[in-house]
Amino acid sequence: MSVHKEVKKVTTHQLQEMKRRGEKIAMLTAYDYTMAKIIDHAGIDVILVGDSASNVMAGHETTLPITLDQMIYHASSVIRAIDRALVVVDLPFGSYQGNSKEALTSAIKIMKESGAHAVKLEGGREIKDSIERILSAGIPVMGHLGLTPQSIYKFGTYTVRAKEEEEAKRLMEDAKVLEESGCFALVLEKIPAKLAEQVAKSITIPVIGIGAGSGVDGQVLVTHDMLGMTHEFSPRFLRRYLNLYESMSGAFQQYIKDVKSKDFPNESEQY
Ligand code: KIV
Repeated sequence: MSVHKEVKKVTTHQLQEMKRRGEKIAMLTAYDYTMAKIIDHAGIDVILVGDSASNVMAGHETTLPITLDQMIYHASSVIRAIDRALVVVDLPFGSYQGNSKEALTSAIKIMKESGAHAVKLEGGREIKDSIERILSAGIPVMGHLGLTPQSIYKFGTYTVRAKEEEEAKRLMEDAKVLEESGCFALVLEKIPAKLAEQVAKSITIPVIGIGAGSGVDGQVLVTHDMLGMTHEFSPRFLRRYLNLYESMSGAFQQYIKDVKSKDFPNESEQY
């Protein structure tokens, strides 16, 4: 008899049930096997293989340079670690904006080659056709509105979006479009908390916020930021749970010292 306990996997349907019950959804990013394993075993609901990998893993200034194949590499590493979480993968810049056929081809490639469970796209009404075409292939889609980093050169800065009435109204309308198109959830990034709460109340799909206040259905943070590994990045919305930059620097410095002083390895650390 097997004593192996089956882990119940998180589904898009369950996330929608969580919203109905008022249970908040916890989401974090991961780009590699080891980190994803720790996050999954901690009990996270959703892991996002974000195109923030372009910044965090590759050191680019923006999310624009990361490619579809690089996203697939990160996503397949994460998928190999997962027992429970729903894994959502960002479609990178340039892989879906051309037309809906291109969007579908990119989404299918991600699903086939990485084993991910869903994709995320940035934008509203302008990508409605692409969202519907991807959904028609049976691929769940998460939307993303507010500060959409793939459009950074249009915005000019990473400041709070939708502070003005016109942009707030458009965002409310776009959230409705994404819901009606069939998105299973929506990320709202860096917008006023009041507006985010209004959006969350006006649609039935879960709204997951980053810098969007507490009135939404869940929260997402970039893991390397909340662990304090990226110490140069300090937006107001970021809560740091550790200062890993300092702890890791200390460990590396100690290791260097131990090697130089011939303290490492000692008698018991060799054969
Ligand atoms: O790429 C990413 O990490 C994201 C989150 C910030 C939502 O899109």
